[in-house]
Amino acid sequence: MTIVAGLDIGGTKCAVLLGRVEGDGIETVERVQFPTPDTPEKAIKKMTDTLDDLIKTHQISELASIGISCGGPLDSKRGVVLSPPNLPGWEHIEIVRMLEEQYRIPVALQNDANAGAMAEWRWGAGKGTENMIFLTFGTGMGAGLILNGQLYSGTNDLAGEVGHIRLAEDGPVGFGKAGSFEGFCSGGGIARLAAQMAEVAIQQGNPPGYCEDLESRKDITAKKVGEAAQAGDSLAQEVFSIVGFRLGRALSTLIDILNPEKIVIGSIYGRQQEILEPVVLGEIAKEAIPLSVSVCEITPTGLGEKIGDYASFSVALLALEKAQKR
Ligand code: BGC
Ligand code: NA
Repeated sequence: MTIVAGLDIGGTKCAVLLGRVEGDGIETVERVQFPTPDTPEKAIKKMTDTLDDLIKTHQISELASIGISCGGPLDSKRGVVLSPPNLPGWEHIEIVRMLEEQYRIPVALQNDANAGAMAEWRWGAGKGTENMIFLTFGTGMGAGLILNGQLYSGTNDLAGEVGHIRLAEDGPVGFGKAGSFEGFCSGGGIARLAAQMAEVAIQQGNPPGYCEDLESRKDITAKKVGEAAQAGDSLAQEVFSIVGFRLGRALSTLIDILNPEKIVIGSIYGRQQEILEPVVLGEIAKEAIPLSVSVCEITPTGLGEKIGDYASFSVALLALEKAQKR
């Protein structure tokens, strides 16, 4: 029986998993989640302590590999997390070396969007495709590219850092840039946009359903705005139509460049599909090359809320392959 571990490191939460390899698939043995600690040292300590507990509880005599899925920019070949905008303080963290020293088993690191793309391609909505794009659309915005049946990671692992692309001169800040794709299309970006729009509405004496007064602007989250939109709040709906418009524009560019057969979109897209989908598809129909649009399906993740778990498992499988090649 082959047991692997997955570490999913995100800007908001971390998850530690044990998985049992079964044929081409992996079954989760157990999963533990906690809010991402505020320094890399604390985060790594908490993840390894959690992993040690899981190994003990399940009496695992031999762990086969560890796969780490983490927000980039990072260097997967050298196993170093470089400077992720959503993980403050993580500067040049040699996480693979640290864990290999501690556990003496193969460890691999991948960008979370690349790992998510591999997971959706292996087990989810991207199964059977040759050319697909996976977009995270959670705390951050990143893309994983499967081209000609292979992960494409670029010259130094920075392919798919689409969150950095500027979509407008002005707009919410994301990835250190106002009006960027991550600024409009990420949890934090949506909250910032909703806060700006709420301020104007409050000053006009029209507080939206997700924010009663100027003081509560600090507590706005994408989740709250999404719930208000679903409950019919018109300003919240307007926030999501702006987000959908920008997402549609960005997808049109990706379609024109890469001519993919599928674009799989993570977290927030699936949760707000009802509002986002018509806006996104409408924009793509207007903007991208029709012959390319006609072969491209836009869909939420097949793995749903488990995408992060399976992303880390797909990296654990890479670590196993890496070991077999040695
Ligand atoms: C990072 C990407 C990552 C994405 C989602 C972005 O801020 O630059 O590498 O894939 O967030 O976590
Ligand atoms: Na990527």
